[in-house]
Amino acid sequence: MENILDQIPSPCFVLEEVKLRENLRIIRHIMDQAEVEFIVAFKGYAMWSSFPILREYINTSTASSLHEARLCFEEMKNKAHTYAPAYSPSEIEEILSYSSHITFNSLSQWERFKKQSLAAGVSPGLRVNPEYSEIETDLYNPASPTSRLGMQAKHLADGLPEGIKGLHFHALCENNSFTTEKVIAAFEAKYGHFFNQLEWVNFGGGHLVTKKDYDHAHLIRVLKNFRAKYPKLKVYLEPGSAFGWETGFLKSTVMDVVENGGFENLIMDVSFTAHMPDCLEMPYRPAIRNAHEDNSGKFHYRIGGGSCLAGDFMEEYGFDQKMAIGDTIIFEDMIHYTMVKTTTFNGVQHPSIGMIDRNGQFQLIRKFGYDDYKNRLS
Ligand SMILES: Cc1ncc(COP(=O)(O)O)c(C=O)c1O
Repeated sequence: MENILDQIPSPCFVLEEVKLRENLRIIRHIMDQAEVEFIVAFKGYAMWSSFPILREYINTSTASSLHEARLCFEEMKNKAHTYAPAYSPSEIEEILSYSSHITFNSLSQWERFKKQSLAAGVSPGLRVNPEYSEIETDLYNPASPTSRLGMQAKHLADGLPEGIKGLHFHALCENNSFTTEKVIAAFEAKYGHFFNQLEWVNFGGGHLVTKKDYDHAHLIRVLKNFRAKYPKLKVYLEPGSAFGWETGFLKSTVMDVVENGGFENLIMDVSFTAHMPDCLEMPYRPAIRNAHEDNSGKFHYRIGGGSCLAGDFMEEYGFDQKMAIGDTIIFEDMIHYTMVKTTTFNGVQHPSIGMIDRNGQFQLIRKFGYDDYKNRLS
């Protein structure tokens, strides 16, 4: 693996096929055992050059916009399960043409687009808020009692509107099967009296089934129990992170080393704000290969992004060796969410995209240039 790094340009996002297939194998196993369907959430994973691999294990995706629905249709070769907080009248016909299922966030959205959805033969659903979540940060909690995402039980006090075929919730974020069990129980307690009118339920994303200690057997039991109780309901789960979890890295290079105010700063050819925004937004400290996140080790460096945003850096990491211009830095686990969130802020060079295939060969899939920067502007 180490010498293959020399063949990879810098900067570059690199997907490792063997790791992706291992995640997909786990997902497929749960699908088969629990007789549920997993679909991939494009908001978290949309590296479409890898979709031929995904299609060996799953059929389709969930889309949160016209563009994601179209990408599903074109590259997953199937219609999407679409949900957005609101749809635009100018886009709805096209969205419906790429969708098999469409979920509405409110009764007013359903009333507005009911006729078109039914005429298009797309299975309509409503997003509901189970109002149970173990996500502590409000910014990431879609199921808080004040969340705008999903209807509350009071909105359905007069019953489920005729024509609605499914209920959808999304209340998890990198959670385990035990939290899932509790959310499903809350969903059932609040909305279970509608289940006999439905054809499907969607348990949303946030199921981190590919994390090392995830209890697959428990999730399978939870899902099987639900299915045994409601055998007529088709069950969908739509994680994004779980697909791309720990399936690749971002290769980057030290461009300069500068000392300021007592700190040694590595100036990189990548930017946190432009290429790894969750590091600043969540925020979280990315794992760096052969470096110590706790700043232990002999040499200490702040990792500085290549943009001119003052805060575009990570606090010190420890290294066992002195770092120099031209050295490689590998940011681990930079596939899910990272790749879909990049920007061309500052015109900083966008990382290329490549894959190490299952034969251990590196394939460069896409390089970005001036046109990619220019075409986002006018
Ligand atoms: C409606 C919906 N479904 C699925 C997902 C995917 O969640 P995750 O990537 O955490 O599995 C999200 C993430 O925000 C979402 O909002």
